[in-house]
Amino acid sequence: MNSQTPDATTLVILGATGDLTQRLLMPALYRLYTRGHLEGVSLLGYAEKDWKREEFLAHLEQALRRFVPEFDPAVWGGLRERIAYRAGDLSPEKLSVLRADLTENALFYLALPPDLFGQAAEGLGQAGLNGDNQGFRRLIVEKPFGYDLASAEALRGQMHRFWREDQIFRIDHFLGKETTQNLLVFRFANRFLEPIWNAQHIAQVQITYAETLGLEGRWRYYDRAGALRDMLQNHLMQLFTLMALEPPSVWDSEVLREHKVEVLRSVRSIPAAQVDDFAVRGQYAAGSLGGQAVPGYRQEAHIPPASTTETFAALKLYVDNWRWRGVPFYLRSGKRLHADYAEVALQFHDVPMRFFGPKAPGCNWLVLRMKPRESLELVAWAKIPGLALEARPVVLEAPYEQPGDAPYTAYEQLLLDALQGDRTHFLRFDEVEWAWRILEPVLAAWKLGQPEPYSAGSEGPLGMARLMDDGHAWRPLGGD
Ligand code: BG6
Repeated sequence: MNSQTPDATTLVILGATGDLTQRLLMPALYRLYTRGHLEGVSLLGYAEKDWKREEFLAHLEQALRRFVPEFDPAVWGGLRERIAYRAGDLSPEKLSVLRADLTENALFYLALPPDLFGQAAEGLGQAGLNGDNQGFRRLIVEKPFGYDLASAEALRGQMHRFWREDQIFRIDHFLGKETTQNLLVFRFANRFLEPIWNAQHIAQVQITYAETLGLEGRWRYYDRAGALRDMLQNHLMQLFTLMALEPPSVWDSEVLREHKVEVLRSVRSIPAAQVDDFAVRGQYAAGSLGGQAVPGYRQEAHIPPASTTETFAALKLYVDNWRWRGVPFYLRSGKRLHADYAEVALQFHDVPMRFFGPKAPGCNWLVLRMKPRESLELVAWAKIPGLALEARPVVLEAPYEQPGDAPYTAYEQLLLDALQGDRTHFLRFDEVEWAWRILEPVLAAWKLGQPEPYSAGSEGPLGMARLMDDGHAWRPLGGD
């Protein structure tokens, strides 16, 4: 990422009065502005609400005061001068009004409900706002990209009607996270890893994203999506591809994305008759978290009492290529679990002969921890001080943020990348579609039956243990 943003650029936010804009986009834009990255960039809010500019600005200010702890009225005074507002719907006639407001370059951020993505992309195209012979025109859109393979393909068709693939920036905000980006740096900047980054040395990989959060008012979306669509199809699948991909020959967004697709293409198909050996789903029942009683999913406001939506999903994937054949990749994510805990952890095979220590399975783990803190950990055997030659595991931990570092949030990183035209951390359409293809048998099987209940505040459904190959066990939420 360099710090140059192109001159005379308009960032148009469609759906500018909604939740995504106030919670995530505006705070990120505020921070980018504070850090001097928005030179030459103006913001244009667009939404159906028949507001005047002043009303829109008052709404944004309220949101910034709420979501930006370091909010400073003097900074806002400067930023607000760059912001305009237009009211309208997604019809080409209304959208074409925007033409007069655009500078040389323009990005359109679709901060809209997912069922409007296709219509918005087409509407902008019909209004002639996609043409990039004067300056650039880009479309930014955030998951969910479809609901299954067929709807993802249909959405791609709608988007490609007026927009070339290189104009489309599909956001998966995990790709803007520091730990995710560090996965690439750690893998490809260190000589000692490559010789052992394969099935000969790695026994298993576990990717975990556990949340204590529940629905947070998102019942309308979540009850239709569930954990598999909400977290595994996209965020965890991205972490998985970055773990597994081959080293690219050059640092280039297309090459990198091609390598990610190659991983997805190499995933062994899940046989329709054996979905239960590869996937587990759960739904939280009443329980307690941090000493507080919490209701079960089916008792949450607006959730149908017989809902079969899963709030926990786990998968086992195998990558059938030379590097990874035989290594299980376990992915899991759930809501209302007992800790906010996230990591990518890989376990090495045990030494061929063990002379010291208990007859426990190998303890050598390498962990890229994302939550509660971002760090790198290596678990190794070491001697227990004393007369006997006995071993116990020790943890070498390195937080990778050092005093004086100035990390960027995922949305800051990705908005800046999109402004600068760097597509490295955005999804190509075929990544999205391959990820759906892998999950098709699971989605089909889960149309029937029920998720297994687990108590809120627990580690998840007991049935998740059935995914584990011999000698493997899920890591506890909270580390070793
Ligand atoms: C979102 C999901 O994409 O990612 C949420 O829709 C989830 O359900 C969130 O809570 C997790 O990401 P983060 O960055 O907020 O921890």
